[in-house]
Amino acid sequence: MKVYLETYGCQMNEYDTEIVKAVLLEADYELTDSTEDAEILLLNTCSVREHANRKVFGRVHSLHHQRNGIRARIGILGCMATNFRQDLLHGSNLPIDFIAGPDSYKRLPQLIEKSLREGEKFYDVTLSEFETYSDVYPVREKGVNAWIAVMRGCDNFCTFCVVPYTRGRERSRAPENIAAEVKRLAGERFRQVTLLGQNVNSYNYEGVDFTHLLEKVSEVDGIERIRFTSPHPKDFPRRLLHVMAENPKVCKQIHLPLQAGSNRILDLMNRTYTREEFMHLVDEIRAHYADMVLTTDIIVGFPTENDVDFAGTISVMESVQFDSAFIFKYSERPKTIAQRKFPDDIPEEVKTERIVRLNELQREHSLLKNRAHIGRIHEVLIEDETTKKSADDFQGRNDGNKIVIFPKGEYRTGQFINVKIESVTPHVLKGNAVNVLENR
Ligand code: 5AD
Ligand code: SF4
Repeated sequence: MKVYLETYGCQMNEYDTEIVKAVLLEADYELTDSTEDAEILLLNTCSVREHANRKVFGRVHSLHHQRNGIRARIGILGCMATNFRQDLLHGSNLPIDFIAGPDSYKRLPQLIEKSLREGEKFYDVTLSEFETYSDVYPVREKGVNAWIAVMRGCDNFCTFCVVPYTRGRERSRAPENIAAEVKRLAGERFRQVTLLGQNVNSYNYEGVDFTHLLEKVSEVDGIERIRFTSPHPKDFPRRLLHVMAENPKVCKQIHLPLQAGSNRILDLMNRTYTREEFMHLVDEIRAHYADMVLTTDIIVGFPTENDVDFAGTISVMESVQFDSAFIFKYSERPKTIAQRKFPDDIPEEVKTERIVRLNELQREHSLLKNRAHIGRIHEVLIEDETTKKSADDFQGRNDGNKIVIFPKGEYRTGQFINVKIESVTPHVLKGNAVNVLENR
């Protein structure tokens, strides 16, 4: 029986798809890249913003048309699953056969069988307080980087965020188990691991905290780079900064979601830090490591956000000067505290004006930050032997996770090389290879 999989949303979802593949292969299903070939079509979905939902609805309709003749079953996995349950099955006329939430993937073979046998629509979205899939070895694409979830769920309940409802309670995976997987990854020639969690600095397994975990992972020979995403600004451990500055394997890059630069809005969002605390943390980060690459997430148009609040966000951005930022319009999510307590009262045009303004500002900052690298030499890990734009170039990333493009030579994916930066755009650094780092 052939299964086709499609993934939407964040890196955690990409990783979950790799878990799903492992579960299905173990149960003797085959994977296919073609919807036409497949008897089972699975969409691993995201519901962090309404836009993501709409994309999936559209896709389900187009898949439906392709079903004629082959009678493929359609299953919805991931965050939309938990959120929509009965609505998706009974309240709408979408051609969906079953729904499985983020903690139900080990049961997928049985769920598929049930769907084929009984034909009735059903869902399995029970969230677990324990499931970490620590006994499933994901089926990863060959490459340079491997994702590995070190924790799942979130207990923060930021008022705008649907994740605590769709992914359930926070739980950490045993450090020995993570280290064993990282060793196996090194054996398979992965050069980098990215540790994933909704809020990695809450990682705690019987007293082992995230900083300890990072140190443990960095002891694995063969893994040269370690990244993680995302920490929460409210409880960023200072010892972690120390380890990041000192440990050559831990990449000098932090994704630190600001969300808003007004204390009134931060309070309504339940972020539990102030703009001053955020900026103080940035100062401390830079005191430990002056060139730390800082990226962020920002939401515009949160309920009641006025011009003064918005100016607060601009002033934090100007003070920090992030290397890059993902900026989103507020999108009301079902069940969240914001949906229950605050009407979505900022007009769409105002949200658009604000997002355009912040994107322009960020573009200036990104360009400024990147220009500072011209003339410098960066250690680049080659990720792709082609770039999207030019067949004559290679693409890799520097320690700070910036994309670096350079003309093709006798190099290959997985190699570390020194590249001298000659020119930049807001999104990439461009340069020429200087030499290969033979000992890496
Ligand atoms: N509306 C807009 N953006 C959101 N995010 C999370 N929930 C919402 C929402 N309801 C953004 C946050 C988060 C990122 C992953 O998505 O900025 O950090
Ligand atoms: Fe959502 Fe806040 Fe948890 Fe991030 S920390 S997943 S924004 S609730």
